[in-house]
Amino acid sequence: MTELRPVTQASATAAAAKAPALPDAQTVTQVRHWTDRLFSFRVTRPASLRFRSGEFVMIGLMAPDEKTGKEKPLLRAYSIASPSWDEELEFYSIKVPDGPLTSRLQHIQPGDEIILRPKPVGTLVHDALLPGKRIWFFATGTGFAPFASLLREPQTYQDYDEVIITHTCREAAELDYGRELIESLKEDELLNEVIGEGFWRKIKYYPTTTREESAKMGRITDLMRSGEAFRDLGVPPLDPETDRAMICGNLAFNLELKAMLEEYGLVEGANSKPQHYVVEKAFLD
Ligand SMILES: Cc1cc2nc3c(=O)[nH]c(=O)nc-3n(C[C@H](O)[C@H](O)[C@H](O)COP(=O)(O)OP(=O)(O)OC[C@H]3O[C@@H](n4cnc5c(N)ncnc54)[C@H](O)[C@@H]3O)c2cc1C
Ligand SMILES: NC(=O)c1ccc[n+]([C@@H]2O[C@H](COP(=O)([O-])OP(=O)(O)OC[C@H]3O[C@@H](n4cnc5c(N)ncnc54)[C@H](OP(=O)(O)O)[C@@H]3O)[C@@H](O)[C@H]2O)c1
Repeated sequence: MTELRPVTQASATAAAAKAPALPDAQTVTQVRHWTDRLFSFRVTRPASLRFRSGEFVMIGLMAPDEKTGKEKPLLRAYSIASPSWDEELEFYSIKVPDGPLTSRLQHIQPGDEIILRPKPVGTLVHDALLPGKRIWFFATGTGFAPFASLLREPQTYQDYDEVIITHTCREAAELDYGRELIESLKEDELLNEVIGEGFWRKIKYYPTTTREESAKMGRITDLMRSGEAFRDLGVPPLDPETDRAMICGNLAFNLELKAMLEEYGLVEGANSKPQHYVVEKAFLD
């Protein structure tokens, strides 16, 4: 069930004015539950935090240490789902029932505080890619998060003629966060102003499910191997001359797709050596 709990201006101001009870504390401003396994939330942004769209930070809560029982920060890596220009920070999160962090984090409410270490890092950044004609964003599950940032980043549309986002999930409702975000780009004032009206026509969105009926079923890897994905999208298979790619999903997906991209002739890049594609895990297995 979808539940939106926006914070009022007055309560946000009051919460922000409170002395922080946590180290590196930021205040939750909005929480939205998408399914019983997925939620997104927004927090205040530290004034000094600069990051590149696509990067991740460590966030968390205070929790009792397993051995001593003493409260200490319990932190996990999280992709920043909002773009670099946003005045708040957004995150898109799994709820692991017995997960040390997310069994707690899933209960946050507007006005609560979380810990946010202001040291952004990551490989899914434009700087790690050579110029190209078309950019592919390949995601499974919460691996959509860094692309939620990059899809709202003007540079994505300045650098590329075409932006293709594929998102594979088990169930149809797990696509909702991404679908709504892409839909909202049409109304995005900043992007319409900076890039030009109709910029969103550069985007080709390719959502697929594997365990529940939807408009397009199957793993993206299989759909590419059979050629179906390219026919559906009306583009040729990836070519190092024209195509750039970013991958973010589970380990098996990352490895399988990475091998496929290498077969197309694409070479993995890094911040220090821009190339044709980059990869990041959506979670540690
Ligand atoms: C670079 C990086 C970026 C990340 N960005 C995000 C993000 O934007 N959103 C997010 O929800 N998580 C993200 N994660 C995963 C995150 O760090 C935590 O693992 C997650 O929040 C669960 O924490 P936990 O303490 O509850 O459980 P953990 O003990 O960390 O995980 C328990 C188990 O749950 C499963 N799991 C963990 N995270 C996920 C997930 N995201 N999707 C599906 N299964 C998972 C794995 O099987 C894992 O072994 C990222 C991880 C890395 C390495
Ligand atoms: N999603 C749920 O409804 C659900 C419910 C309860 C528990 N869990 C647990 O939560 C954890 C994460 O689940 P998740 O659904 O978020 O993530 P996931 O297992 O990583 O699956 C996400 C999507 O990636 C696809 N995929 C997996 N490996 C792939 C590969 N090598 N190439 C291409 N696509 C690939 C999956 O397809 P396939 O379906 O074909 O594998 C699925 O559509 C798992 O341990 C799972 O047991 C999930």
